Amino acid sequence: MLELEQWKKELKQLNQQYAKIRELPPEERSEFGRKLNAQKQQILAKIKAVQLDDAEPAVEPIDISAPCAPNEPIPRIARGTRHPLMVELQNVMQIYQEMGFDVMESRQLDDEFHMFESLNFPPGHPARDGYDTFRTEEGFIPPAHTSTMQHRILKRYRAHLEEGGQISVVVPGRVFRNEDADATHEHTFYQCEGVFVSKDATMGQMLGVLKHFFEAYYGQQLRIKTQPGYFPFTEPSCELLIEKPAALGGKGGDWLEMLGCGMIHPNVLKMAGIDPKEHHGFAWGGGIDRLAMLKYGLVDVRYFESAKLSFLEEF
Ligand code: DAH
Repeated sequence: MLELEQWKKELKQLNQQYAKIRELPPEERSEFGRKLNAQKQQILAKIKAVQLDDAEPAVEPIDISAPCAPNEPIPRIARGTRHPLMVELQNVMQIYQEMGFDVMESRQLDDEFHMFESLNFPPGHPARDGYDTFRTEEGFIPPAHTSTMQHRILKRYRAHLEEGGQISVVVPGRVFRNEDADATHEHTFYQCEGVFVSKDATMGQMLGVLKHFFEAYYGQQLRIKTQPGYFPFTEPSCELLIEKPAALGGKGGDWLEMLGCGMIHPNVLKMAGIDPKEHHGFAWGGGIDRLAMLKYGLVDVRYFESAKLSFLEEF
């Protein structure tokens, strides 16, 4: 900037010299004028060079794809928000991560082995029908529960056991069932699976983890209880219930079934190369939609997949 000021000053002094032309004898005037002009050109060139160096960055280019006419007021652009289920899924993951669980994502197309065999459902087992699976023409299965990931988790993390550690993984996932939709059933929903294996995992630890999870999710103390259940991949198997908190409209004694859980069946561990005499595990799986419905007092699960903007915009 100082340099620029300097050149401008010189230009001013030079300009003043033009007045002298009139005082010169006529034959000297043109020579004098030529010199002044040449000097002036030099100074102007210097000024231009300095100005270019200091110039502001180029003007931002016009976005020709802008969704408006350039001379008209810009219309308000409605921005979307994250889907409430995705927000809740993240809340759920955060709680488990704070407890030390790793997160592994499930897949949206799986196979017969991971859906059934690896989970101790032999071919023809009647419990297979309970899952109302869809099938592609090629015989693949869009998973009907996130338990399809159990075998992969056990295999992938079993090295932790060999090193004296444990397996602790949760799996969020989108699942699909070929059943009629009603207020409490959807063909597409989200689940979260949990798998824990160690030398001495117990049912008591499992209940501790789950109680902590529900209390953290609903932000208050809760009572839990179990009732017997049946899943081929756990033994014993149970269903976990929580008492509907008063803050969410519970009257005391309103018990809600939230997920299935149990001690991992020895066959499931064996199939993944883990010796059930050496290691024990527990697993659980439950719907995210159900958690969110209770949190927000929703009565119809179908809203989540309905693409009703008026519903989604409430979140
Ligand atoms: N996958 C079961 C379902 O969707 C829920 C479940 C039960 C998952 C027991 C588990 C488990 O991991 O141990 O009905």
